[in-house]
Amino acid sequence: MEKESVSFEKLIREDRAAHSSQAWQGRFLDYLEFLKADPTLTKLAHARLHEVIVEVGIHDIVSTDDARVKRLFKDDNVKVYHFFEDEFFGIEKTLAQIARYFQSAALKGEESRQVLYLMGPVGSGKSSLVEKLQRGLEESEPFFAIEGCPMSEEPLHLIPRHLRREFEKMLGVHIEGDLCPVCRFRLKEEFGERYEEVPVASRLFSKRNRIGIGVVPPVDPNNQDTSVLVGSEDISKLDLYSEGDPRVLDLNGAINVGNRGMVEFIEVFKNETEYLHAMITATQEKVIPAPGRHGMVYVDTVIVAHSNEAEWQKFKADHTNEAILDRIVVVKVPYNLRLSEEVKIYQKIIRNSDFRAHVAPHTLEVASMFAILSRLEPTTKCDLMTKLKLYNGEEVVEKGKTKKIDVHELRDDTKREGMSGISTRFIMKALDNALSDNIEGNCINPINVREALINMTKEADLADDTRKQYLDFLQDILHKEYLDILEKEITKAFVYSYQEQAESLFQNYLDHAEAYVNKTKVKDRNTKEELHPDEGFLKSIEEQIAIIGSAADGFRQEVIAYLWAASRRGARISYRSYEPLKEAIEKKLMSSVRDISRIITKARTRDEEQTDKYNAMVQSLLEHGYCNNCVDVVLKYAANNLWKD
Ligand SMILES: Nc1ncnc2c1ncn2[C@@H]1O[C@H](COP(=O)(O)OP(=O)(O)OP(=O)(O)O)[C@@H](O)[C@H]1O
Ligand SMILES: [Mg+2]
Repeated sequence: MEKESVSFEKLIREDRAAHSSQAWQGRFLDYLEFLKADPTLTKLAHARLHEVIVEVGIHDIVSTDDARVKRLFKDDNVKVYHFFEDEFFGIEKTLAQIARYFQSAALKGEESRQVLYLMGPVGSGKSSLVEKLQRGLEESEPFFAIEGCPMSEEPLHLIPRHLRREFEKMLGVHIEGDLCPVCRFRLKEEFGERYEEVPVASRLFSKRNRIGIGVVPPVDPNNQDTSVLVGSEDISKLDLYSEGDPRVLDLNGAINVGNRGMVEFIEVFKNETEYLHAMITATQEKVIPAPGRHGMVYVDTVIVAHSNEAEWQKFKADHTNEAILDRIVVVKVPYNLRLSEEVKIYQKIIRNSDFRAHVAPHTLEVASMFAILSRLEPTTKCDLMTKLKLYNGEEVVEKGKTKKIDVHELRDDTKREGMSGISTRFIMKALDNALSDNIEGNCINPINVREALINMTKEADLADDTRKQYLDFLQDILHKEYLDILEKEITKAFVYSYQEQAESLFQNYLDHAEAYVNKTKVKDRNTKEELHPDEGFLKSIEEQIAIIGSAADGFRQEVIAYLWAASRRGARISYRSYEPLKEAIEKKLMSSVRDISRIITKARTRDEEQTDKYNAMVQSLLEHGYCNNCVDVVLKYAANNLWKD
């Protein structure tokens, strides 16, 4: 117990020490010296956020070992920003657009005078993106402000206009902006214009303490009071001071407190247009009106707004809003469309939540497939499941050939893909529902999650044809897809050392196909005997993917040519190297165990040998991430669906 309290104390002490070592206090004169030593300490808001985003690193998306990513992005030069990398998945282009906005805004391009507006469907991550930027500020280095200023303003504002050029030269910095009315008043009354004496202190960004981060929730339309944005006059003080005395000012609006950092407008277009004007002047002119008769106040802040597409369309349709539209940089935040990344989203959400149940293999995958199918636009080039796989960077085999469909072309054919469909929240609710239906098992699996999704789809507020389509995804397409996955999985669990068996089939196939193509003989690896290529064996593999008759010659040539080219490139050759052959080999293995697996999973009574095999299979599944509950569930499911008599 004692040890514990000592370590609490230690933690608190260290934290305080770390904070106070960062803290700085002094007169403006000291600040100038400080700044001279390190002019990068002063920055405008956009430049600061840009630095937050880029300082932890950037890499090209194609510099990875993941063949799927390489395939998908080989022609576009997309950058991955480490700042977002662990929390946002599959929306690299959106993130790069956000980073680009900050880059040009940091260089004081036109963007620095425009609102960054994130538009996308519900649950696409807009709020999370803004929160991430806010956290980035909160975790960044302290900034410097005039002590006591309600707007944490830049101390350099103290320098009178006529001296600025000289100071700029001496410091190597750019100075913009003027003192707020409160500081101006104090400078005169408290410091007798001796600005070098004004105290300056370091500050940390904090959303909760309203330092450098302001938030504007949608305002009740009947109560569009701009004090939420720009502060107000304290009525109780109006009796004490004369009109125009800044001491009556409460500069505590969201734009005031967001000075130096950022202001977030949630569901921005729910607000009246008048209300948006303050937002626009703040970005465009970098000033906001002070409440009452106190003129204008300089602000330096990044304005980030977000809302869904319906609100945006409504706003855009109103031509009186044109002036505002021109001052907005729109960044679309669509849903992710890559299966591998969708799975990561739910893994992240689960990790950050209190969800503590077992998640069976392929559960998140199946749920993610549903989400993505619902977001895809149909195409004449292939079915939706194929499109999903191509978007995931997979190679899809059809009639012994990998499908040659260009993903870019598929994407170019779409209109607003990713802007509608099932949201991340819908999927998370389904996972929760599946768990509440299986409290005693404390496990979710593809079967109970699909069930939950079906129930939710039936109850959801959807157009009839949409509902019908979603049910078709769940009851037909995903049902089949999951059975394919499951059959492979159970085969792997059945076949003793699956990998080696697959490799040895592959090697044999290569030996015989090569001899066949070159019209030579195969040397038996053990007996060194020279044999004719075994066509029966070759056919037994090829027929798995419907290569029969005259198609076989061509297929064998392709396999040899493909692998020959790959090995010349220095690629490691395995049974996975050529997608059509991999599929044929996997199917061959599956067919070889189909009979025995049927007998074993179905049998009420098993003989000794069967019992051993069954136990070994269960053991193997447990080792591959199943729990005692879901192993039972999936085996029953397989027995009822895969091996129907
Ligand atoms: N591409 C993504 N990568 C990582 N997480 C994501 C992604 N898309 C959504 N999420 C997660 O989904 C959840 C819902 O997202 P969020 O609340 O940010 O959505 P939103 O766009 O603000 O929705 P709304 O329009 O309903 O306010 C969050 O946990 C978020 O992190
Ligand atoms: Mg939101």
